[in-house]
Amino acid sequence: MFKGILISKDDGGYQARLQDIDEAVLPDGDVTVRVEWSTLNYKDGLAITGKSPVVRRFPMIPGIDFAGTVSESTNPAWQAGDKVVLNGWGVGETHCGGLAEVARVRGEWLVPLPAAFTARQAMAIGTAGYTAMLCVLALERHGVTPADGEILVTGANGGVGSVAIALLAKLGYTVVASTGRVAEAEYLKSLGAADVIDRSELSAPGKPIGKERWAGVIDTVGSHTLANACATTKYRGAVAACGLAGGMDFPATVAPFILRGVTLYGIDSVMAPLAVRQEAWQRLGRDLDIARLNEITREIPLSEAIAVAGELLAGKVRGRVVVAVGS
Ligand SMILES: NC(=O)c1ccc[n+]([C@@H]2O[C@H](COP(=O)([O-])OP(=O)(O)OC[C@H]3O[C@@H](n4cnc5c(N)ncnc54)[C@H](OP(=O)(O)O)[C@@H]3O)[C@@H](O)[C@H]2O)c1
Repeated sequence: MFKGILISKDDGGYQARLQDIDEAVLPDGDVTVRVEWSTLNYKDGLAITGKSPVVRRFPMIPGIDFAGTVSESTNPAWQAGDKVVLNGWGVGETHCGGLAEVARVRGEWLVPLPAAFTARQAMAIGTAGYTAMLCVLALERHGVTPADGEILVTGANGGVGSVAIALLAKLGYTVVASTGRVAEAEYLKSLGAADVIDRSELSAPGKPIGKERWAGVIDTVGSHTLANACATTKYRGAVAACGLAGGMDFPATVAPFILRGVTLYGIDSVMAPLAVRQEAWQRLGRDLDIARLNEITREIPLSEAIAVAGELLAGKVRGRVVVAVGS
């Protein structure tokens, strides 16, 4: 038996509970990991509260990412004692995840814990931070440079948004943070935002095309916010879309794409190939300021994860939440 959160769905309804879990609940996999740290991402909030159908098999241990130490392995790539990190691959959705003391997964889903980070730091970054890095890489690959002008980051106080601001600022970009919590402007500026705007400027239905402002955009919100961001991106600029915190719809026109040559990049962290993950983690090791990471991280015990998942979805959490699981 080991401790963890278990989600069940039956006649009694949808329920997430911290409890002792039998090893028999663990799915097949060739590597067993003692989880030390996990985290709460937006998707974990959806899974734990049942607000969206993220969990597709029951019973399910939530947690789309974890860091820990291999305890058993029949996969030649991993030995007991190896320090590992996992992000995505349907873990916490269709395959039991990281919010429990033990996880059993497929060896090819794991990456070595980057030398630059402790297991706790890797989870302070978590899927949110790794996705922020994927977004920055997309803008870089497009050719957006600091000299091109302002970069918009939406959902700025969230996990992806906070890490994206810290990364972009360290790389020399001028960042404009869009938030529903302008009272947190000082926090966003301390992360490196040059300016802070109220998200209401972007969240209402807008024109097909507007005044050119952004050299690049990292959008975690979707819906009208993403449409307005595209409509105000500069000629041949780029938008990296990774989230739907404001809605899954995309009420836009083709105008920014065919009149301004704007490029919209879709960012997926869940099924990203190994080489992409390794590049993102390596760049996080180089470009993320650990002091900044500490500033945006709140630590909670596993016993608080269910309550904090609700706070996260209510937009009350700032930055990243790291969960002490078996540390
Ligand atoms: N594509 C991928 O692989 C991938 C990976 C990770 C995350 N994501 C997605 O990225 C998004 C952010 O994830 P996260 O972990 O950073 O979540 P988070 O920490 O909960 O942050 C979300 C932020 O979005 C803003 N927000 C919340 N509700 C909103 C609304 N109704 N309208 C506009 N803005 C709203 C809030 O920022 P302010 O208070 O500053 O406004 C909130 O802090 C989520 O949609 C998540 O599913 C996608």
